[in-house]
Amino acid sequence: MPNRSVTFTGIRFENPFLLSSAPPTESENNILRAFDAGWGGVVTKTIGLHPVTNVVGAKAKFMRTGADDAQVSMKKRPGAALHSSWNWELISDKAIDWWVPRIRRIKEAHPAKVLIASIMAGSGNDKELRNWQTLAQACQDAGADGIECNFSCPHMDRKDMGSNIGKDEGLCSVVTEAVKEVATIPVWTKLTPATRDIVVEAAACFRGGADAMVSSNTFPSLPLIDPDSLEFEINVDGLVSSGGLGGPAILPMALANMAKMTQAFPDRAFSGIGGVSDFPQALSYFLLGAGTVQVCTAAMLDQAVGPNVIRRLNAGLDTFLEKHAADGWASVEDFRGIRRDRVVLQSQIRRPEGDSYQGGYEPVEGYAAPDELPLSVR
Ligand SMILES: Cc1cc2nc3c(=O)[nH]c(=O)nc-3n(C[C@H](O)[C@H](O)[C@H](O)COP(=O)(O)O)c2cc1C
Repeated sequence: MPNRSVTFTGIRFENPFLLSSAPPTESENNILRAFDAGWGGVVTKTIGLHPVTNVVGAKAKFMRTGADDAQVSMKKRPGAALHSSWNWELISDKAIDWWVPRIRRIKEAHPAKVLIASIMAGSGNDKELRNWQTLAQACQDAGADGIECNFSCPHMDRKDMGSNIGKDEGLCSVVTEAVKEVATIPVWTKLTPATRDIVVEAAACFRGGADAMVSSNTFPSLPLIDPDSLEFEINVDGLVSSGGLGGPAILPMALANMAKMTQAFPDRAFSGIGGVSDFPQALSYFLLGAGTVQVCTAAMLDQAVGPNVIRRLNAGLDTFLEKHAADGWASVEDFRGIRRDRVVLQSQIRRPEGDSYQGGYEPVEGYAAPDELPLSVR
């Protein structure tokens, strides 16, 4: 039997696959179902102290791309493939007093499974920093195995919350430090991709004492405008706000951020999220240096908690380890990060030699019409 287990930030996981903080982990029932289905861990839906009221109507939708056209739309069409999820959902609308007894019960029922509590408060004053500490302490006392600080929700109006913390290295450090002051369990920080250089914020969180970086949350984005009605495909009274994009569309961008961070901090711990629905995508994160992987969109589309997704992820890992037994790979740790150093500066990539060079244009399949191509390749 291959060894699926990993130790990540000192926590033992029976497998390296977690449900990320999102609707799949918004209730006790979902989390219990997720553990029964085989997930190694869950990150709870983000818990805060401020009252939360979501928008009228749908909080999340899925976009699909037609097989024969490049059209991206929320409209269901036969044969269309999943492109992304789009959401403008806020954090949990349940209070901390609702969460605490549930965290306790879940951990009592599943002591060997990992429960990470995602938390969020503001950062504009000392009271808000104390709110982070109150949340961390309450979840830790209830039995959570770790804390994930949400510095990454893309649709917070408040300047001192969500991704507005994740875009400010000073706030990243200060908030992490405040949580670390009270935490006796590992503290992870979930960063926003909406920043110029995620390595800067990762460094700031590590300076504040973070035990791991988590990336990616959703990317700031808008739904499409319907060409007939001229309305956004999701709107309330004709209005929309920036929301978050997840799912397959963000996988390459999330991998790019992961590679930047694991190269900058090769000895630190990283949890990869974005576009994972099966083992090959998780493998890319592991090969770049992530030690665990989290899933949201694919699980939402699979009976809300992803029983088939976790079955595929575990089976894929088993098959991969069996295939590479002769290489001496007995667990994720044996191949984690082995492709991290293949990401280099463009100038380090080999150029073609002599006559084969055509100025970068492919004469047969290029984007330029023939009369726009340089004379040498027409
Ligand atoms: C409807 C919805 C709600 C989400 N809520 C949260 C949240 O409360 N806290 C958080 O850290 N991330 C939240 N996320 C982000 C996900 O945890 C995850 O980072 C993102 O969706 C990318 O993963 P995916 O490509 O597997 O969906 C949410 C995502 C969706 C789609």
